[in-house]
Amino acid sequence: MCGIVGYVGNKEAYPIIIDGLKKLEYRGYDSSGVALLHDHSIQLFKKKGRVSALEETVVGEKLTATIGIGHTRWATHGAPSDRNAHPHYSNSKSIAMIHNGIIENYSQLKAELITKGYIFHSDTDSEVLLNFIEDIKINNNSTLEEAVRIALKRVTGAYVILLIDIDLPDTIIAARKGSPLVIGIGDNEHFLGSDASPMLAYTKDVVYINDYELAIITSNELILKNIGNERVTPFIQRLDLNLSQIEKGGYEHFMLKEIFEQPQTINDSFRGRLDVSAHSITLSGLDTVLTKLDQAQRIVIVGCGTSWHAGLLAEYIIEELCRINVEVEYASEFRYRNPIITDKDFIIAVSQSGETADTLVALEKAKGKGATIFGVVNVVGSSIARLADAGMYTHAGPEIGVASTKAFTAQVVALILFALKVANHKRTITDERYKQLIEQLSEVPTMVEWIFATQLEKIKHIAYKYANAKDFLYLGRGYNFPIALEGALKLKEISYIHAEGYPAAEMKHGPIALVDDTLPIVFVATKDSYHEKIVSNMQEVKAREGRVIAVISVGDELTKDIADDYIEVPYADEIISPLLSTIPLQLLSYYIGVSKGLNVDMPRNLAKSVTVE
Ligand code: F6R
Repeated sequence: MCGIVGYVGNKEAYPIIIDGLKKLEYRGYDSSGVALLHDHSIQLFKKKGRVSALEETVVGEKLTATIGIGHTRWATHGAPSDRNAHPHYSNSKSIAMIHNGIIENYSQLKAELITKGYIFHSDTDSEVLLNFIEDIKINNNSTLEEAVRIALKRVTGAYVILLIDIDLPDTIIAARKGSPLVIGIGDNEHFLGSDASPMLAYTKDVVYINDYELAIITSNELILKNIGNERVTPFIQRLDLNLSQIEKGGYEHFMLKEIFEQPQTINDSFRGRLDVSAHSITLSGLDTVLTKLDQAQRIVIVGCGTSWHAGLLAEYIIEELCRINVEVEYASEFRYRNPIITDKDFIIAVSQSGETADTLVALEKAKGKGATIFGVVNVVGSSIARLADAGMYTHAGPEIGVASTKAFTAQVVALILFALKVANHKRTITDERYKQLIEQLSEVPTMVEWIFATQLEKIKHIAYKYANAKDFLYLGRGYNFPIALEGALKLKEISYIHAEGYPAAEMKHGPIALVDDTLPIVFVATKDSYHEKIVSNMQEVKAREGRVIAVISVGDELTKDIADDYIEVPYADEIISPLLSTIPLQLLSYYIGVSKGLNVDMPRNLAKSVTVE
């Protein structure tokens, strides 16, 4: 996720900004940059790669400015590169800006600006917003502050922006909606950051800026206004935090932070795509290959690990909604056998990192045979994203915990949007069901919040109760079968307890031999068309003295009575429900791992990005 830093005061700004950017490195980034304002002119440096690469580009430069802004970028629009890195210059080069967030209506604004003669030097939505602000400033003959206010009333999306202007030699203008911004109050100096970590060495007095607030900051004054231009009194808080607490947002581990981020990341994957009131889905990447999909005889989904589980779930959903034949392949198997692939195949590659070697080679192979490649990838500009003919980013932000959590739900959201869009295009879904699914999907973030608010203590209790078990079985049917597999994988990774996922009905063909009073069996048993059947499987386990932990729909009294322990999730359509039933399983693994004193963020032997065979 992007990080922003700013400084205005009486010290040299550059070292403070670089130090601040390093403090924000934990957020994940692909490029960085800094802009300094000195004597009515702007010095701007930016570079793909680590902050250390940026530092190399300024060697020998005279950097005496006492005001400046800095940025670490996590790409959302435009691949990681020097040109897409922030800060950006406005067309006149008199304003420089950094941006954290996504401007949803940037393409419309860009088209307007191009007709007015504006030239763009990057592929970013941020440069569009900056030139939009400059255009208002010039045409309305307004101050930068007024231009920012007018512009922000027209943009949709999320942002924190920091601007410096050669006409305002001692001022930073900042604004926020939906992305974090903290201002530190020093002695005749102010610090800005995405969180308090860049300023903690200098001050503990901070102001958290709220949505729709605009700040005008000089060394000795912080003026806060709302978007309606009314003054707001800054609320100064004294921090009682250390650095590592901030990096993890107050959570003990990145994994827990990322689990709790899911209401936000799911919303982020909707952003600019899902318009609930119009019941419309915009997937511009898909539009470019829709003809290929129409001609395709089948879809082949390729991935590894958790991404393969998202693909397996997508098989069920796409076949149901779109009536297209789907096959799901482990990339590592696909690449070595001799699969029959033709130019009539449409391949969906699912990958968080976009760098998994097995997936990459499998795709190269399929592309070589003429197949169309559609990427569902989290890391912008990654190898898989670049190899794909088209695709959609999952917008989960950087995932630091090795075990995938928020990236998985973002993949599932992306694949559901894909399925809904294609089903509507092919008319394989009724208007009523299409609308109903769109509406329910938009409610998922709130439903996930409900799980956190009501089930957490119960999940912790269950985790501690079963933490010493030697083996676990995870069972699910239909849409919940991939969730059972994902639950078992998460437990293995985080707690080192052997766990297996199975389709519940397969139990009687072998695994039932394992059942005794020491074996916890997690049933993913939310209310869906398989519900009665999975309850029967549960009875079979109980009859053999097995221990049943059930994930059920809220208020399912019958199943509650059968289970030894249960966790409730809100009731949702069976296509949406897996997004909910996976959350307690992530938390269960997390708390079992923690109770065993294990390093849940970095389990032994695992790597975040598997770039070897
Ligand atoms: C499990 C996990 C792995 C990855 C797999 C694929 O928690 O993270 O199973 O899902 O290595 O990685 P990506 O999605 O980066 O291709």
